Amino acid sequence: MSTEQERPVQESGVVVVPASPADLTEAAALLAAAFEHEPQVGALLQHRAPLRRRAEHLYRALLGAGPLRRGTVDAARDRSDGRLLGVALWVEPRRGGTLLESARAAAGLVRGLPDHLRAFRGVDPRHPLGVLGAFERARPRVPHWYLEAVGVAPAGQGRGVGGALLRHRLALADAAGEPAYLESSSPRTGALYRRLGFVPLGPVRAFADGSGPVGMWRPVTPP
Ligand SMILES: CC(C)(COP(=O)(O)OP(=O)(O)OC[C@H]1O[C@@H](n2cnc3c(N)ncnc32)[C@H](O)[C@@H]1OP(=O)(O)O)[C@@H](O)C(=O)NCCC(=O)NCCS
Repeated sequence: MSTEQERPVQESGVVVVPASPADLTEAAALLAAAFEHEPQVGALLQHRAPLRRRAEHLYRALLGAGPLRRGTVDAARDRSDGRLLGVALWVEPRRGGTLLESARAAAGLVRGLPDHLRAFRGVDPRHPLGVLGAFERARPRVPHWYLEAVGVAPAGQGRGVGGALLRHRLALADAAGEPAYLESSSPRTGALYRRLGFVPLGPVRAFADGSGPVGMWRPVTPP
């Protein structure tokens, strides 16, 4: 898969390439900006101020825990000037219970801890643990690519960047015969994901009031 990852995908002025650890700050800032008005990230952070700054720490923790080092973060850049337009944070399929996976998870927790603490300062830890636990329980047990976050810079939304970003990783998954899973936070994003081959599995009741995203599954799709 690494050979495929190094081959950039070009589409309508956008080039999709793997992000590197050097992109951490820019990628986290972009995701925080993209999600600034997305209600479920706000709910996860209990709408605590400064929300955008806290979201940046949250994404720093998630990106820096391992995905950037392992090449599973895709960056959409403007083909003409290299500007970062969008980021997709994927987690590779878990085979389950291997020593390497356990070691990675532990290392990721330690690496991400300072940013997690900043993101959730003053929040009862039972809240994020409950929400993330519900997300985790809803995930299918079959190994799959997991889309942890996708965001496009607010000024560039609705121009095909998000679709190009997602199609890039899904093409790699198709080539490897692997399924994919994500949580869709609104009917509008759900429509995009359906067009990419995802089907709804059902609601993930992650929040205390019973609300939450919809889990969506994309079966193995022959290339
Ligand atoms: C969702 C998102 C990644 C899609 O990327 P994009 O480049 O805007 O999308 P594309 O141009 O490739 O595709 C357009 C489709 O994406 C969805 N979409 C576009 N803008 C959106 C927005 N602001 N919020 C939610 N969905 C959006 C719609 O289905 C749209 O189709 P439509 O115009 O027929 O309604 C991007 O809009 C975004 O970052 N939104 C805010 C963060 C977010 O909601 N992330 C996903 C959480 S599940």
